[in-house]
Amino acid sequence: MRMSRSWAWLLLLAVLVAGVSLWNTDRSEAEEPDAKAKSAAAFQQVARVLRHPRCLNCHPSGDRPRVGEKGELHAQNVQRGPKNHGMPGMHCAACHHATNQEIARVPGAPHWSLAPRSQGWEGLDDHDLAVALKDPKLNGGRSLQDLLKHVREDKLVLWGWDPGRGRAPVPLTHADFVKAFETWIANGAVEPAKGTTSRFGDGDK
Ligand code: HEC
Ligand code: HEC
Repeated sequence: MRMSRSWAWLLLLAVLVAGVSLWNTDRSEAEEPDAKAKSAAAFQQVARVLRHPRCLNCHPSGDRPRVGEKGELHAQNVQRGPKNHGMPGMHCAACHHATNQEIARVPGAPHWSLAPRSQGWEGLDDHDLAVALKDPKLNGGRSLQDLLKHVREDKLVLWGWDPGRGRAPVPLTHADFVKAFETWIANGAVEPAKGTTSRFGDGDK
């Protein structure tokens, strides 16, 4: 009688241990897809910002900056030039100064220049945009933390929220953009599935 009772306890213990460890594997397996979905969703928020004209106009895939809400080619035949600062005699800084020139309506911020060709994002879907952004061979040799620092502090990025009279700032606040960027990285910097192209005005800003 004593023996069978302690066997019963042991059996109960074994069942409990097995139960707890099963529950644990269930949980860790369930958490991973959650993190992935969270990361990909956060990136779609990031992608909306990157595709906003205030950013994309300077990150074209060709050799000319774009202007305005519709991304028209820059007037005066302005070109990328050998170092992304314009052609000799037509440097960006000849017209673009360190601050917005409100009367002439010339936008400005320190080190105004065109993003290198490998950092042109036109025509990429959300998946390919995430892949390009993460690739140090394309993104200027940046780690994920370097990218985060760039979107937090870079003067050209910040200009997107202070673009001067007559130009719409990026609609998501800079703080929420940085938060989305952090969430994307903290949950694995996952690329969304192929085929979506997130933009403001899609309904779910
Ligand atoms: C006046 C032009 C200009 C504007 C406007 C601009 N960028 Fe850039 N961007 C650049 C340049 C130039 C670089 C490369 C800088 C370097 O490598 O030091 C760059 C690099 C970057 C990078 C890092 C490289 C990469 O491919 O990941 C990110 C991220 C970025 N920009 C985000 C933005 C966002 C977000 C906005 C809008 C809120 C924006 N940029 C607006 C010119 C611009
Ligand atoms: C001859 C003067 C001049 C030069 C040189 C010049 N720009 Fe501009 N740029 C302007 C003016 C003026 C505007 C405002 C146009 C408007 O809003 O209609 C402008 C607007 C822009 C915009 C549009 C911002 C937006 O989101 O609407 C970008 C981007 C830009 N310039 C990038 C560059 C880059 C990069 C270079 C150098 C490769 C450059 N520009 C060289 C005069 C110049």
